[in-house]
Amino acid sequence: KKYAAEPYRIKVIEHIRQTTKEERIKILKNAGYNPFSLRSEDVYIDLLTDSGTSAMSQEQWSALMIGDEAYAGSRSFYRLESVVKNITNYQYFIPAHQGRGAEQVFLPQLVTKKGMYYISNIHFDTTRSHVELAGARAIDCVIDDCFDLQTYHPFKGNFCLNKLEKTILDKGKENIAGIIMTITNNSAGGQPVSMENMRQVSEMAKKYGITTIIDGARYAENAFFIKEREEGYQDMDIIDIAREAFSYADVLLMSAKKDGLVNMGGFIAIKDHEELYNKCRTYIVPMEGFPTYGGMNGRDMDALAVGLMEALDENYLRHRIDQVRYLGDRLREAGVPVQYPIGGHAVFVDCKSIAPHIPYDQFPAQSVTNAIYIEAGVRAVEIGSLLLGRDPDTHENIQSEMELMRLTIPRRVYTYRHLDVVADAVIHVFEHRSELKGLAFVYEPPILRHFTAVFKPI
Ligand code: F0G
Repeated sequence: KKYAAEPYRIKVIEHIRQTTKEERIKILKNAGYNPFSLRSEDVYIDLLTDSGTSAMSQEQWSALMIGDEAYAGSRSFYRLESVVKNITNYQYFIPAHQGRGAEQVFLPQLVTKKGMYYISNIHFDTTRSHVELAGARAIDCVIDDCFDLQTYHPFKGNFCLNKLEKTILDKGKENIAGIIMTITNNSAGGQPVSMENMRQVSEMAKKYGITTIIDGARYAENAFFIKEREEGYQDMDIIDIAREAFSYADVLLMSAKKDGLVNMGGFIAIKDHEELYNKCRTYIVPMEGFPTYGGMNGRDMDALAVGLMEALDENYLRHRIDQVRYLGDRLREAGVPVQYPIGGHAVFVDCKSIAPHIPYDQFPAQSVTNAIYIEAGVRAVEIGSLLLGRDPDTHENIQSEMELMRLTIPRRVYTYRHLDVVADAVIHVFEHRSELKGLAFVYEPPILRHFTAVFKPI
């Protein structure tokens, strides 16, 4: 198989420090066997997230210089607004400091009474938190194939339409605050959602009078998968595929830290619902900032205006997705169990199969994550029982269905050779998997424990 070569060349470099294995053993111990506590200086290849970790282009760096920092009505705002309107065909645009900023302003607006629900294919963690903070509940209706790590399905991020309709009827359509289409579906492994699925969700939402929202953090990557895999889209431009997707929703909530190719930023875009726009515009002032900056610097809005268009470039997207696929394919060829097909932004390694001797409450995926740090200075992140936490009532550790390690690839940052280093490290750990040890808490914070917990190997 061929993987697309870089459609860019390197003009500025950032030095990264290489440590020895002996050093890393000490560093990890001092970090309490929790990669979140590592200093980035001690990390050689950082695959913690693809969020806010992209490299900007020379055009984006230049755009920073023309940023207009006016409190109200800055030129940067209008430039960004015109790009967002062009991509979405929506009428209204409000910036926010990042995705969760957009969520905290928008999501409460549709929660008009007690006992309401948002339904998504899968809510991202912060989205779920803001649904709950708004006094509603989050229900996921993804297809069952999503949980099968091995079998090929072109659109594992899809909604199960039966589950969706059943949930609407069970809870009552008047109690559904909105339907959130997460594209690509991050929590399902960056798996795409098909155009047909979005169209059907939109039709169902119309039938029951429910507002549809796109959580579009990785919408451009989703459009690329549609072009590659869905009948009828092979000859369409990525931007037109994106426009069609947005036509099936009423609102776009955007974390620009992914497919905006910037380090910080986000926004809300609304198709034509003026009242909803006015509510958000009022509410954003105390939460994020005046509606023409919403927590963003003028210069950052200009960099985003450029980044949004760059992320829709097909050559860029092919290389981006190919890099992720290259890492996934190398692991698969070596027999390492990974989610298949490979998603858009990360490779998910199945650590339950790698370390069946480690029980869920000793966190097998955290153990593998620590081992690849020691092996090669690579930082990944656990997505499993550690992340899931404890049942608030019984205080028992909740057992996650899957114990995954996420190797998340930043955009335009690492080379294929870097990915070889990652693959070699994971393969080495896989070949020595019987030596992996479970972890016990030395300190366990009461909430969001994965960020600050301290462990010791058992
Ligand atoms: N929606 C999705 C699908 C996301 O993946 C994220 C962030 C957000 C919303 C929130 O946006 O970070 O700008 O506030 N995902 C990051 C990740 C944190 O690592 O997957 P944000």
